[in-house]
Amino acid sequence: VIEDCAHCHGPRWDDRGAGSLGDLGAFSFQSSKLVNSAEGGALLTNNEDHYWRIVSQRSCGREYRPGVRVHSGNYRITSLQAAILRGQLAALRRNAGIMDRNGLALDAAVAAAPGVRPLRRNPHITRQCGYCFAFLFDPQAWDGVSGEVFRRALSAELNWGFGSTYEPLNASPVYYPHKKRRHHLSPAYRRAIDPARWELPVATELYRSRAVVTGWSAYGVSPARARYLTDAIVKIYEQRATLRDGTPPPRAAPARPRRRAIPARAKRRPA
Ligand SMILES: Cc1ncc(COP(=O)(O)O)c(C=O)c1O
Repeated sequence: VIEDCAHCHGPRWDDRGAGSLGDLGAFSFQSSKLVNSAEGGALLTNNEDHYWRIVSQRSCGREYRPGVRVHSGNYRITSLQAAILRGQLAALRRNAGIMDRNGLALDAAVAAAPGVRPLRRNPHITRQCGYCFAFLFDPQAWDGVSGEVFRRALSAELNWGFGSTYEPLNASPVYYPHKKRRHHLSPAYRRAIDPARWELPVATELYRSRAVVTGWSAYGVSPARARYLTDAIVKIYEQRATLRDGTPPPRAAPARPRRRAIPARAKRRPA
């Protein structure tokens, strides 16, 4: 079992860290991630056989343990990236619990607002933090306001970007295996792996209408400030009749002070 932990830096399941549950845990350190080194990643394993194979695979297929080598390319990150990551891992140890607490306060703030609800938290999740903060929007409770209009209105109100999930797999901009020649084993096989032939109504409805998602920096919002999220949703809800035509409410004052423009250098007058 390989755990895809690309988005899971720090969460715990029954007090065991994500990435330590399966045979291998695969983490991404790409630049958008909570722990990142611009690009790169890490694999965790407790299995010694897997370990030596991965060590070889990572480093051009060299043989680090007699008899164990995997024909490969260069999958190494640099020492500079490793140094940056070590600092972030130390910070994550301090911050994961704070993010968990702040996430619960944001859930409560969503629960206190009309026409939206927080995600159900599985009782096995003993610490939640990571890539995104998300909640669910109910278009019916908003008299037909679309998810997209709500996301835009909330982004304008809080000066903070809210989007949706990734596209469902049948419409993904990055998943189209049938375009690769090496998968053209037979016309039937090619048709079978064409994602466009699937119908994914639940994922599609979530993506289009229900999911409201923002980046991990939301976990930096303290419990004392989480009520701004409730207030913003209540305010938009009260104006929902004006939203139905797709017009978001006027932009609120920015939550954070804007940087002052750098004054243009005064023109030198000729002496
Ligand atoms: C769920 C998931 N798995 C895997 C990856 C791949 O990570 P990387 O780009 O570091 O290879 C990503 C990237 O965002 C991801 O979102």
